[in-house]
Amino acid sequence: MLTGKRSLFSNQPGVISKYVLTVLFIGLSNGIVGNVSADAAKGKMLFGQCSGCHQVGPEAKHLFGPILNGVMQREAASAPDYAYSDALKNKLQGGNWSDESMDAFLAAPMSYAPGTKMAFVGVQSEEDRANLINYLRSIDTDGNSSDAATGVLNESEQSSENASNEPPQERRPATEFAVPEHGVLHLGRLALAEEVQAWDIDVRPDGVGLPVGQGSATVGGELYDAVCASCHGDFGEGTGRWPILAGGMDTLTEERPEKTIGSYWPYLSTVYDYVRRAMPFGNARSLSDDDVYAITAYLLYLNDLVDEDFTLSSDNFSSIALPNEQNFIADNRLEEAFRQSSEPCMSNCADEPAVVLQRARVLDVTPEGN
Ligand code: HEC
Ligand code: HEC
Repeated sequence: MLTGKRSLFSNQPGVISKYVLTVLFIGLSNGIVGNVSADAAKGKMLFGQCSGCHQVGPEAKHLFGPILNGVMQREAASAPDYAYSDALKNKLQGGNWSDESMDAFLAAPMSYAPGTKMAFVGVQSEEDRANLINYLRSIDTDGNSSDAATGVLNESEQSSENASNEPPQERRPATEFAVPEHGVLHLGRLALAEEVQAWDIDVRPDGVGLPVGQGSATVGGELYDAVCASCHGDFGEGTGRWPILAGGMDTLTEERPEKTIGSYWPYLSTVYDYVRRAMPFGNARSLSDDDVYAITAYLLYLNDLVDEDFTLSSDNFSSIALPNEQNFIADNRLEEAFRQSSEPCMSNCADEPAVVLQRARVLDVTPEGN
């Protein structure tokens, strides 16, 4: 849309195109942008590409990027409680953002301050950057957009605005765009700590990865009856064909072993992890960490491994061993001698043509008649 507008106006005298732009933005400011001036209004629209990482306004919070209220009035990299990169802090050394430095930063953040956290390709058009800067300037440190500060253009900006009425510049070749510095493929942005935390929920047999918390078998029993028993049975015996969670002790050597948490599973961490990650079926991740401790304690109780009044916690978790743990052995096939009766033949092995001993038809696995 912007490119279209620019090429539309590019052959017109500046006065006319400016008039048209003003009319356009008066129209917009009535509905969308309130009482901000034309260019700040345009900047506000352009800010859409920033708003995934930045908020402005009285209620603004830090997202991946800092709150930008009053950023043109305050010291650079100074929003309270935001962890800036050293790259950005060192770049401006406690000075304020100027139009020039902000313009250079927004044009190519990662070239301007190599190592900056702002993993953003930059705003290509000088006009767009000027409008964004005007918009940022229109927002005071409390996040209010003040009429007086909505960026009445000064001389130098006037000329940069006029520049937009000249024929559009050649498109920059793709190689000139800043490439993110992080990672191997240099793609996307770094995951937020919160995003990593939300995914990184695995629990190891030695307890690493467990959240801090606790829950009693008594509380777990109530939860279990409410959200698990309908499928897994009141005592973990499984209703219908849903999995059995308790019992089956000493059945592993029988022809139909009953593999449950108590009879078969090697580690309690798997129970915690599985329930936390995947249950109740159809409503996964709905339980709190403490709920999962309580239910895990109750599942131990259903398997006769703890008493009714047992409380499981992040502190005593790794002291619980499941009965079948010892029967799981490490897979050390790489170290074991390769077991076979004779030396394997590696070249020119068969003198005779291969003899086919059985055919699929004989085995009755291929449907006949077609
Ligand atoms: C992918 C997320 C992301 C996007 C998109 C993004 N930013 Fe940022 N921005 C950041 C981060 C992170 C920082 C902090 C940089 C650092 O500490 O190195 C930052 C810093 C800034 C700062 C400096 C703030 C200060 O306190 O000095 C400004 C100004 C800024 N961004 C403006 C913008 C504008 C305008 C846009 C849209 C055109 C934008 N950013 C798009 C993440 C982003
Ligand atoms: C709507 C039915 C349903 C409910 C309710 C339900 N589960 Fe399950 N559960 C399943 C199904 C189905 C599986 C097997 C899933 C699979 O193998 O992919 C399963 C598997 C399990 C397993 C692994 C069993 C094994 O031996 O592999 C455990 C442990 C478990 N559920 C615990 C719970 C707990 C605890 C709750 C309550 C918080 C719960 N489930 C609620 C249906 C349910």
